Amino acid sequence: MTATDPTTQSNYTAIANYHVDFTWNLDWKAKKISGSAGVHLRARQDEVKEVVLDTSYLEISKVEVGGTSTKFHLGDHHEVMGRALTIPLPSVANKGDEVIVTIFYETTDKCTALQWLDKEQTAGKQFGYLFSQCQPIYARSIAPLQDSPSVKITYTASVTSVLPVVMSAIRVSPPSTGPIHDGKELGKDVVEYKYKQPTPLASYILAIAAGNIAYKGFKTPPNATWTSGVWTEPEMMDRCFWEFSEDTTKFVSEAENILTPYRWGVYDILVLPPSFPYGGMENACLTFLTPTLLSGDRALVDVVAHELTHSYFGNGITQKDASSFWLNEGWTTYFERVLQQVLHGPLARDFSFIIGAKALIDSLKSYESRPKYQRLVIDFQYGEDPDDAYSSIPYEKGANFLLYLERQLGGLDVFLKYARNYVETFDGQSIATADWKNHLYSYFKANGGDEKIAILDAVDWDAWLYGEGLHLPVNMEYDTTLAAQAYELAAKWDKSRTTDAKDLPFNATDIQGWNTNQLIVFLEKLEVLKPLPSTHIHALASIYGFNDSKNAEVGLRWFEVALVSPAAKDFAQSAANWVVDPSSLKGRMKFCRPIFRLLYQVDQGLAVKTFEANQTSFHPIARKMIAKDLNISDVKYA
Ligand code: BES
Ligand code: ZN
Repeated sequence: MTATDPTTQSNYTAIANYHVDFTWNLDWKAKKISGSAGVHLRARQDEVKEVVLDTSYLEISKVEVGGTSTKFHLGDHHEVMGRALTIPLPSVANKGDEVIVTIFYETTDKCTALQWLDKEQTAGKQFGYLFSQCQPIYARSIAPLQDSPSVKITYTASVTSVLPVVMSAIRVSPPSTGPIHDGKELGKDVVEYKYKQPTPLASYILAIAAGNIAYKGFKTPPNATWTSGVWTEPEMMDRCFWEFSEDTTKFVSEAENILTPYRWGVYDILVLPPSFPYGGMENACLTFLTPTLLSGDRALVDVVAHELTHSYFGNGITQKDASSFWLNEGWTTYFERVLQQVLHGPLARDFSFIIGAKALIDSLKSYESRPKYQRLVIDFQYGEDPDDAYSSIPYEKGANFLLYLERQLGGLDVFLKYARNYVETFDGQSIATADWKNHLYSYFKANGGDEKIAILDAVDWDAWLYGEGLHLPVNMEYDTTLAAQAYELAAKWDKSRTTDAKDLPFNATDIQGWNTNQLIVFLEKLEVLKPLPSTHIHALASIYGFNDSKNAEVGLRWFEVALVSPAAKDFAQSAANWVVDPSSLKGRMKFCRPIFRLLYQVDQGLAVKTFEANQTSFHPIARKMIAKDLNISDVKYA
């Protein structure tokens, strides 16, 4: 245990937390969580004199060790790391000794993980809403604990609230199946929600949400050892159920067929209000999803496949620290696309790699001035913010690396057997890239011998793991069949750039019946071509209705085309309106960050004004990142 996680101040290598009992009350008026965390720790070495936990903007009133009140010390606040909470032990702990420290505390309006929404920001507009986002290092702003994926905890929670509560765990009481809020009056009567999480998890998948939310179960296959269903506001239930009920349980069953049985007992999804800053988040037992996935054509369910896959890669086998983030996201992206291939055929898998390739090149370009973040394995310094390195690179470089290995080592069947062995070997553990590589070698030594080892030895490990620049070490080829139509239409537009706008040979039927992915590929092709003339950009908008698209994936690509074109100024205001539209805020950072960045280039004043007038609508994490993108230093708190 020499290398320690650079994003925590806790002393987890000396004494590690392994269980936490949360007793919380949700104070909807003051917008805070108050209560206690009983942290159970076990010493990993002799002579441990103190426990050091991570906190960020928590107000701590009292600390007890083994039931006796004790002095504690809060260090200075570090912008990224928060404040270390040091609790001296009454007597030294030796290897194997167990200690319980209980911290009484409240959250504040600066706790980055939490967003408290006003009722106007919800679908129902009658009740407030609360949700958390702990990855990568915000769990410390919900509870004092060792906020590192190197150490896992089980937990129990008792949460009192006047609105229903869900957590990244298994509901003990009241029953999920209803009645909502145990039959008590919403917003008025207090109900105690009890949860338990018996499977050890990393702190970044600790999660809570609360609001007027209801549950509807999916039909599970006979003999399933898990249940599955959707949580959302009653107003959204029908749309959510339609969008996700078809595929979710299929993904779980397929993952079980290929890998190992699903270990978490429950696979529920929660569809959040639009300020949720990600597409999806793999909180244990309860994937959080953005409502922008409700495209009405089930075209975006791959995000569910992705988050479900994290149950194995990420939640089961966990990155030891931020430098091995790709083990979570690269593996998950690779396997999410395996599920697509199994359910929809090999062309669908390649189509996703094609869309991913565009995201990869964009991300690589965005880090040209910070090439370290172009690497697959990033060496983080103490106190460096992992959010600054967040991009498609670990996803796409990682998935392509695994696809490359699959192709070299004998194809999908061979590789999936290996993937199963990888899960069986490391499930439940936190590992680094070196552990993965050692196992890969030992697996193929045992299953193929010298021939496979020669293949592995020929891999350019340095280039894949530590390479910088705009290219993958190997040129990857994908089947472009599903993209062909979209490419043809883009080529036709490209050829028509000298045609007078009134003579353009296009009409709405060009894209009739196209799914979301085809539209994405079409617009992304236009984006990499030389910008079309202003008249043609206006024609694109009027012929295909892109400016009014209800589909956020399409809207994003459309504005990415329009805002780098000669017509950019004509579309700046509609792009600004699109991002902050109160009825469908683009709170997902994948949408709001690129649009704010482009707006900043087109009309700096409009970008800053739009953000400043709407910043409290965004989740604190999105608020922080957009402010960085726009070079604004005074971020507001709710
Ligand atoms: N775990 C991530 C989200 C995340 C990563 C949050 C790092 C905070 C820090 C999640 O699984 C994810 O990858 N979401 C993607 C989904 C997509 C790739 C299918 C997203 O939100 O876009
Ligand atoms: Zn992910």
